[in-house]
Amino acid sequence: MTTAIIGTGGIGSVIARHLAAGGETLRLSSADIASARKLAAEIGRASVGAADNRDALLGADAVVLALRFTVLKGVIDEIAGSLTGKIVVVPSNPVGIDAQGNLARLLPEGQSSGEVVAGWLPAGARLAMAFGTMSADLFESAANRSPEPAVLFYVTDDDRAGQEAERLIRTAGFEPVQAGGTAQSGRLEVGGDLHDLIVGPAAARSLIGAA
Ligand SMILES: NC(=O)c1ccc[n+]([C@@H]2O[C@H](COP(=O)([O-])OP(=O)(O)OC[C@H]3O[C@@H](n4cnc5c(N)ncnc54)[C@H](OP(=O)(O)O)[C@@H]3O)[C@@H](O)[C@H]2O)c1
Repeated sequence: MTTAIIGTGGIGSVIARHLAAGGETLRLSSADIASARKLAAEIGRASVGAADNRDALLGADAVVLALRFTVLKGVIDEIAGSLTGKIVVVPSNPVGIDAQGNLARLLPEGQSSGEVVAGWLPAGARLAMAFGTMSADLFESAANRSPEPAVLFYVTDDDRAGQEAERLIRTAGFEPVQAGGTAQSGRLEVGGDLHDLIVGPAAARSLIGAA
């Protein structure tokens, strides 16, 4: 299967490496196309650097938008014409740095990033919020854990997006567990009760039920 990854920075590059290690074919894109091409060359021949964001989507079943929250809507608008029927996987956390240099949430308390991103997508795109539930370092080291795989939580309102998110999460070397619909995305983000956890499937399911 082929997946596009737009954004090959801190988290996008680790997602790319894990998916490629699991056998996924990748089409990579970034603001500076040279950085996506460099990563594709490092990963190997199942991975190519695309000419631009729209080109990344050619032949891809799914696209991972590994972008800062502040640029996400602009890129969605740019590629909107290619998103009908596509699975859109978003790891972005709605956080930025405030004037004092502290991490700050960019949405009002209680507003779900999943619902905001769903509102930015064109009709026909199928959203899952996934792959942004751990810091890049933890995500990098926790793949293919043995004997019990580490869980990656995801949320979606769309069954097909859920199936594809689960396939991608397994391909990346983790066990998928759904934590609800997009309204629940806050639980997965920085500051959420399911963020940055390394747990196995049984513990993950009891954490979901405990909320
Ligand atoms: N890093 C983490 O530990 C982590 C963990 C979980 C979730 N997240 C979330 O993931 C998102 C990305 O974080 P990050 O740390 O990976 O950010 P980052 O290191 O700044 O990477 C952002 C990437 O987006 C690309 N980009 C920017 N504008 C673009 C455009 N118009 N078109 C295409 N690509 C564009 C950049 O391209 P260039 O490289 O060419 O500049 C870069 O590759 C954030 O929302 C963050 O909250 C991050």
